[in-house]
Amino acid sequence: MKKRILTGITTTGTPHIGNYLGAIKPALKLATENDESYFFLADYHAIIKNTDKIEVNDSVKSVAISWLASGLDVDKSFFYRQSDVPEILELSWILSCVTAKGLMNRSHAYKAAVSANDNTDEDKGITMGLFSYPILMSADILMFNATHVPVGADQLQHIEMTRDIAGRFNHLYKIIFNLPEAIVGDENKTIPGIDGRKMSKSYKNVVPLLSDEKTLKKSIMKIVTNSLEPGEKKDSNDCTVFSLYSAFASQDEISSLQEKYNDGIGWGDAKNLLFSKINEEIEPIREKYNELQGKPDIINDLLNEGAKKVRPQAKELIGQIRDLIGISKV
Ligand code: TRP
Repeated sequence: MKKRILTGITTTGTPHIGNYLGAIKPALKLATENDESYFFLADYHAIIKNTDKIEVNDSVKSVAISWLASGLDVDKSFFYRQSDVPEILELSWILSCVTAKGLMNRSHAYKAAVSANDNTDEDKGITMGLFSYPILMSADILMFNATHVPVGADQLQHIEMTRDIAGRFNHLYKIIFNLPEAIVGDENKTIPGIDGRKMSKSYKNVVPLLSDEKTLKKSIMKIVTNSLEPGEKKDSNDCTVFSLYSAFASQDEISSLQEKYNDGIGWGDAKNLLFSKINEEIEPIREKYNELQGKPDIINDLLNEGAKKVRPQAKELIGQIRDLIGISKV
């Protein structure tokens, strides 16, 4: 049976190397001729965390361009903006009505937000958007009855919840939803940022994907290393330079860097190798990005086209669902 692969990226900020390696590249690799793939910009997820309209809008643009510049082929996959498919929000409400509050209480993201608060007001700053985030995500997935959802390991719980919610609906009404499977690839192992912690915008430790060469180099030179001198043997375990290099290089290149570590390569030289490796891969992406950056009409047209292709599918399913729940002609 054909797989139906679906994944979304929340449009907050400008994509960095971590997003590219963890989400964009593996998703594009999965999208083979034999399967159907749905890639979308989760802009209604973005407003949970960000109330700055300029930032939200800019991010939609830069995330869209990043996918396209990285090789997404709009003729072979569906590429759309979540907000252009209002049926997803309708489904989200319908699913809310069959979702146990207790299920949402168990969400890691919600629990982390609660535990960051003190006991006097444990729900301080927590919106209903954050609380129901997994339901909107379920609607994204179930709206197109995806079979496989590539995600980072931190999103696994959300896929479990989607299965729970779909199962509940199927049980109450009729089996209409497929229970999707998560795909957590090898690529999804944590990509370290320049300080060695997980690469994340909130840690301000990212290596940019779309900057010019000079900025890329500067950020790589800032990677924290130990103070071993050139000539001293370096350990490649838990080494940020080595991990990042491995994420881009072939097996032979990785072995060759390992030898250089054994021979005591200096950190400056190792970082230069890392820079060349990353730059080699992202140079064409950067060029395409810069080209598209000045052509917002193209992006808007592509996204509109994408929405036009998927909306009839969404309308069809939401029609069936409305009938099932009694929201139909009297
Ligand atoms: N929650 C995902 C993230 O932050 C983004 C997302 C939204 C998503 N809807 C989705 C991913 C549906 C996969 C499927 O990474």
